[in-house]
Amino acid sequence: MVDFAVNVAPGPPDFVVDAVVGAIGGLAAYPRADDEEAARTALGQLHGRPPEEVLLLNGAAEGFELVAGLGRRRAAVVVPSFTEPVSLLRRAGVTVTEVVGSAPWRLADVHDDIPHDADLVVVGNPTNPTSVLHPATDVLDLRADGRLLVVDEAFADLAPGESVADQSRDDVVVLRSVTKTFGLAGLRAGYLLAAPPVIAELTRSRRSWPVGSPVLAALRACAGPLGRAYVEAAAARVVADRAYLCQRLTAAGLHLPVEPAAPFVLVRHARASQIRVALARRGFAVRSAENFTGLGPEYLRFAVRAPDVVDDLSRALESVLEEVGSD
Ligand SMILES: Cc1ncc(COP(=O)(O)O)c(C=O)c1O
Repeated sequence: MVDFAVNVAPGPPDFVVDAVVGAIGGLAAYPRADDEEAARTALGQLHGRPPEEVLLLNGAAEGFELVAGLGRRRAAVVVPSFTEPVSLLRRAGVTVTEVVGSAPWRLADVHDDIPHDADLVVVGNPTNPTSVLHPATDVLDLRADGRLLVVDEAFADLAPGESVADQSRDDVVVLRSVTKTFGLAGLRAGYLLAAPPVIAELTRSRRSWPVGSPVLAALRACAGPLGRAYVEAAAARVVADRAYLCQRLTAAGLHLPVEPAAPFVLVRHARASQIRVALARRGFAVRSAENFTGLGPEYLRFAVRAPDVVDDLSRALESVLEEVGSD
């Protein structure tokens, strides 16, 4: 299948592969504190923050697991968004309110729906799967006394401009992933930024040597000069490739409910489910948005891909829409 469903780069760049391979020779040893410190320092420098405010993770998803273990009682999760936080929080016994927005999914429109006693609020920026990039001021407006705000910035490296990762605040946790941009989903590597007392709380029950040495090496490489240049080039490519994808999708008759800002595009069509199945028959995988609270079977998500692959998709879409009809 040609993959328009998963928002992960096809594979890691050579300098990250070299870093991971370089760590293999040292696998007999437990992960070293100075390698951990080097990765935290490099990631901290990326965001203008000291290493004490960086916590290394086995993927951003692990950050949600640690947040779920904080013992907060009442969480609000702004949806539609990544489904893991709600599952992990509920599994940990936290009462979760899903605060459901509708297109164009502005935070200001749901601000007053957040329960006043929510001591934990989770929001994605840019949000998966809507591809909305919220203004940083709207994100920070979700803070309140006694509340911890968790901002999932898993895709923020490819949608720069509104990140709050460079702001040190006692009540904000920012989760970041290297999985998507660097094609490292299988390695499980990510990090979070938070004030040292919050990091202490998050890691209270964490095991020793939580992050393996290949992950430490990968994180350091992603945060280094080659990693920064790689992200910059990837972000520029996403802007151009996304514009082309959007043009082809709308030309085919699909509706874009919002201007996308992330490396994926949400579309709406009355017969989206049929379109997805018909595309799959032609060898193209696209993501149904049916399981996201607040969306439904009329929504599909397309990953941004290179123009030549989009041309192939576009031709397939043409015949699919002839087959299923327009809305
Ligand atoms: C919005 C969002 N946040 C976090 C994650 C988890 O990322 P990681 O692979 O770093 O655990 C994902 C993965 O799909 C995601 O879509």
